[in-house]
Amino acid sequence: MQKLWGGAFAESTSDLVERFGQSIETDLNFWQEDIIGSVAHARMLGETGIISKEEAKALIDGLEKIHEEGPSYLKLDVEDVHTAIEFRLGEIVGPEIAGKLHTARSRNDQIATDTRLYVFNQFIRTQDEIKKLQGLLLELGRKYRADLMPGYTHQQRAQPITLGFHLMAHFWEFQRHGLRCERLLGGVNFSPLGSAALAGTSFPIDREMTAKELGFLGPIPNALDATSDRSYILDALHICALIMIDLSRISQELILWSGKEFGFVKLADSVTTGSSIMPQKRNPDMAELIRGRTARVISNWSTLAVTMKALPLGYNRDTQEDKPPLFDSLRKIRDSIQLVHQMLESANWQTERMAECTYGDFSTATDLADFLATTGMPFRQAHEIVGKVVRGCLERGLVLEDLTPESLAEIAPEVPAVALDRLSARESVDRRNSQGGPGRRAMDKQFEDAARVYETVGFPKLI
Ligand code: ARG
Repeated sequence: MQKLWGGAFAESTSDLVERFGQSIETDLNFWQEDIIGSVAHARMLGETGIISKEEAKALIDGLEKIHEEGPSYLKLDVEDVHTAIEFRLGEIVGPEIAGKLHTARSRNDQIATDTRLYVFNQFIRTQDEIKKLQGLLLELGRKYRADLMPGYTHQQRAQPITLGFHLMAHFWEFQRHGLRCERLLGGVNFSPLGSAALAGTSFPIDREMTAKELGFLGPIPNALDATSDRSYILDALHICALIMIDLSRISQELILWSGKEFGFVKLADSVTTGSSIMPQKRNPDMAELIRGRTARVISNWSTLAVTMKALPLGYNRDTQEDKPPLFDSLRKIRDSIQLVHQMLESANWQTERMAECTYGDFSTATDLADFLATTGMPFRQAHEIVGKVVRGCLERGLVLEDLTPESLAEIAPEVPAVALDRLSARESVDRRNSQGGPGRRAMDKQFEDAARVYETVGFPKLI
């Protein structure tokens, strides 16, 4: 295997050592970032006179050619992508010139630069996908803003809400994820390039110049820190885990709600699968896989956290293991966001069934207690009286909506008959106009806020 080192070694490494150390396959994920980092470095070497301007130009042209021709020209029987690109560069511009590229640089600052660029680029894309999902949630939220459904706590029917209100709760989750990505981008956006192996270099490099060319805000102040830090990858993996947890919760709802017992939604053929034995089955496999793969995305964070916990400063090869979890988590969240998008977009919401389920489950009992409290009665006492109404109904085989002025007077004479107006789910929802509630006026405000943050570039801090 061709290597970038070996001069001091009398014997060659064994096949197993070479195979065990190889990262080329996974490195190919960031071959473009590696080239872009090298172009900035080469240009800086030329500008500062560390190499001649002609040499710098030859290096940049060669690197751009590699970028154009794509990764299929890279050798795969090498240790890593840095080696593969340097060898390809040698084939294009000759080994004499290619050999100058690594002046004042180490693979340690190179890999740190590549990974920061990669995380930055990937999270810009992730933000786009988050926006798209939010766009769909906002659209569905508006469409179903008046469609009643039971709202749950403890997985028991609690108070009626609307499907639009429920979907908008997921909109705001993704606003937070977008904001998390924004904060991550701000932290990642500093350049390790020029830190060399751990302690800088005696060459008169210009780190501001390379940082600027690569779009970073500036160089990381300490070379040892710059080459040792992987906390931004932990931040990235944590965000991936949080996104996946919410996707898993949406998936769980779709799984539950598409079952006969709920019957709230029918998932489209395009996102469901059949059974090899039971012809009638329509399984929500994609939702289940998202729920299942969330385990791996969560553990990818802990895999790297455990890798990092006892590492002394200075580059350690252990950190090569930061990339498989990173690539894995990013791929999984990207696919999962798109799948959730597809499932929601193509879902056939059973709004009648949802509305039926808001009937007869005593879920407007709170509204009755609220009404009594507005007449001046302490809420505790109102709660007690409504508890008596509920019991009275159950004893008579009635639901709240069945109550007549007569039956109410018999069960709880202290409740005026006008309170019966408060017992429908529609009335209950329409009256809950406190900010953030499902009532029409409150939802107008919520949609206004949501549209504003959605239409703003980036993810403004509303929550
Ligand atoms: N494959 C290595 C990594 O991912 C690249 C840096 C190698 N540096 C070294 N000194 N061996 O971390």
